[in-house]
Amino acid sequence: MLTTIRLTSGLVLFAYVGTHLINHSWGLASMEALNAGRDIFVAVWRSWPGTILLYGGLLTHFILILRSLYNRRSFRIRIWEAVQILLGLAIPFLLAEHALGTRGLNATIGVIDDYIYEILVLWVYAPEKGILQTVLLVTAWLHGCVGVHFWLRLKPWYRGVSPYLLAFAIVLPVTAVFGFVAAGREIKVLAQDPIWLEDMTLHINWPDQAAVIWVAKWKEIVWEICGGMLALVVLARAVRWLVERRRGVVRLTYPGGRVTQITPGITVLEASREAGIEHASVCGGRGRCSTCRIRLGEGREHVEAPSADEQKVLKRVGAPESVRLACQLRPTKDLEVIPLLPPNASPKDAYRKPAHLQGSEREVAILFADIRKFTQFSENKLPYDVVFVLNRYFRAMGEVVEETGGELDKFIGDGMMALFGANTTPEEGCRRALEAARRMSGALDDLNQSLRADLDEPLKIGIGIHLGMVIVGEMGFSNAVSFTAIGDAVNTASRLEQATKEHACQLIVSEDICKRAGVSLDGFPLQEIPIRGRQQPVQIRCIEKASDMTEVELQLGRRSRRDRASAAE
Ligand code: FES
Repeated sequence: MLTTIRLTSGLVLFAYVGTHLINHSWGLASMEALNAGRDIFVAVWRSWPGTILLYGGLLTHFILILRSLYNRRSFRIRIWEAVQILLGLAIPFLLAEHALGTRGLNATIGVIDDYIYEILVLWVYAPEKGILQTVLLVTAWLHGCVGVHFWLRLKPWYRGVSPYLLAFAIVLPVTAVFGFVAAGREIKVLAQDPIWLEDMTLHINWPDQAAVIWVAKWKEIVWEICGGMLALVVLARAVRWLVERRRGVVRLTYPGGRVTQITPGITVLEASREAGIEHASVCGGRGRCSTCRIRLGEGREHVEAPSADEQKVLKRVGAPESVRLACQLRPTKDLEVIPLLPPNASPKDAYRKPAHLQGSEREVAILFADIRKFTQFSENKLPYDVVFVLNRYFRAMGEVVEETGGELDKFIGDGMMALFGANTTPEEGCRRALEAARRMSGALDDLNQSLRADLDEPLKIGIGIHLGMVIVGEMGFSNAVSFTAIGDAVNTASRLEQATKEHACQLIVSEDICKRAGVSLDGFPLQEIPIRGRQQPVQIRCIEKASDMTEVELQLGRRSRRDRASAAE
C-alpha cells in the first residue's frame, strides 16, 4: 500500500514538473505561446483537484522519503539510490521560495505571476535565482526520471521503448532551458523601455517590500519544518540504534556456512550489503521486483508473516511459502537464508517464468549429435581453423534445430544436445526430432561442400535420439544458466549417439521415438542394444544416412497442412 502511495505521489509530482518543462519549452515559439501554455498549466494545477493532488503529493512523497530514510538501516547503497534520495530531499528546500513568490503572492496579494513577472524576477533582477530555479527543475526532473526508470524497468515492454523515453528525458529539460532563455532575452530588451516596465509593474501588481519580507519569512518556516523533520528522523534513528543494540544480535547464515551478525530490525538485504555479500536487488529494496528473494532455512518458524504488499509480489512470481523478499524481511531471531537469484539478476527475473522453465517433469525427445574423429581433426589444424570449422558446424546444426522447433540445450566440445516437445506434445517432439536429424544430415553435406578447401576429409556425425521422462528447467548459476534436462532418458540418448560408431551409421533412433511419432522406419533394421544402468535393452533403428528418411518430412508436411486447415476453420 505504502509502495503504491509513494509511487502515485511521485507520479503526480513528475507530471507537474514535466508539464512545467513543456510550458517553458513553448518559449522557443514566442512569449505569447509561453503565457498561453501557462494559462493551461495554471488551469490544471491551480484548480482544487490539481491543488490537492500537487500539495498532497508533495507532502506525502516527502514524508515517505523520510520514512524510508528512517527504515533504512544501512547506507551501503548503489549510487543511483543515493542520488535519488538526495535529490528528493533537496526539492522542498529548493522549491519553497519559488512557490511562495509566485503562487503564494498570487493568492495573498493578487500578484499576476505570469511569465513576464517570473522572467523579470529570475532573469532581469535576480539572475542568481534563475540559476537556482533551473537547478530545482532539473533536480526534480532527474529525481522523477530515476524513479520512473526503476519502476518501469520491471515492465516487459519497457526495454523496447526505453531509448525513446531516454531521449525525451534529455530533450525536454534542454528545450525548456532554451525556451526560458529565449523569453528571458526578449523581456530583458523590453525591460529597457521604462514605459513598458512601468506598465508591466502595474499589470503584475508588483510585490512591495512587505511582500518580499513575507516570502522570506515563510521560506524560513518551510525550511525549518522540513529541516526539523529531517533532524527528527536522524534523532529517531539514533534512539532506535541504542535500543536495538541492547536487544543483542541476530545471526544470519548464508550458503557455504558464511555467518553475519546483525542488529534486529535490519533487513536481510541490508545485512547482505553490510557484510559485502552480493545480493540481487533490481528495484533497490523497494519491494517491487522480487529479485532479492530468499529461501528460508533453519529458524524460519520465527519470522513474521509477510505484509500484504510483499505477499502480492511473492504471488506474482509463484513463490512458495518458504520464500521471502530479502528487502522486506527483518529477522529477530537467528535465521538461515539462501538467495535464489544471482547478484546480476535482471528485470526479467521479476516475473514468473513459464512452467517448463521453472522445473517440471516432461516427456521429451532428446537428440545428441557429435562429430566423428574430431580430436584427430583438431590435432592437425591451427586453433583458429578448428574454431572456425566448429562454429560453422554449430551454426548449421543449430539452425536446423531451431527451424524444426527444438530447443538447443548445450554444446559440449564438438557435441550438441537438443530437446524436442518441451512446449508441445511428446508425439510432436518425436516427429520434430526425426525431421531435425534428417535435415542435419543434409546440412552436413552442404557444409562439407562449402568447407572442402579447409577439410582433409568430410566431417561425419553420429546422432542418437530417444524419448523419455526427464526433469526440464532453467539450471545453472549466474550467466551460465540455460534450459536443460536431466534424467535417465538423457543418458540413453547420449549412449545411442555413441553407439553410432559401433554400428557404423549416422543415426540411431529408439523404436519408442518411431512409434510415438507415428513414423514407420521398417525399411531400417530393428535391433536391440544394451544400455549401461538399464535392465531392459533398447530397441533401435540404425539409419546409415539420416537424410534417407523421407517419411518424416511427409508426416510433418501433412501435419502442418492439417494444422493450418483446422486453424483456418
Ligand atoms: S530488492 Fe526489489 S523486491 Fe527486494
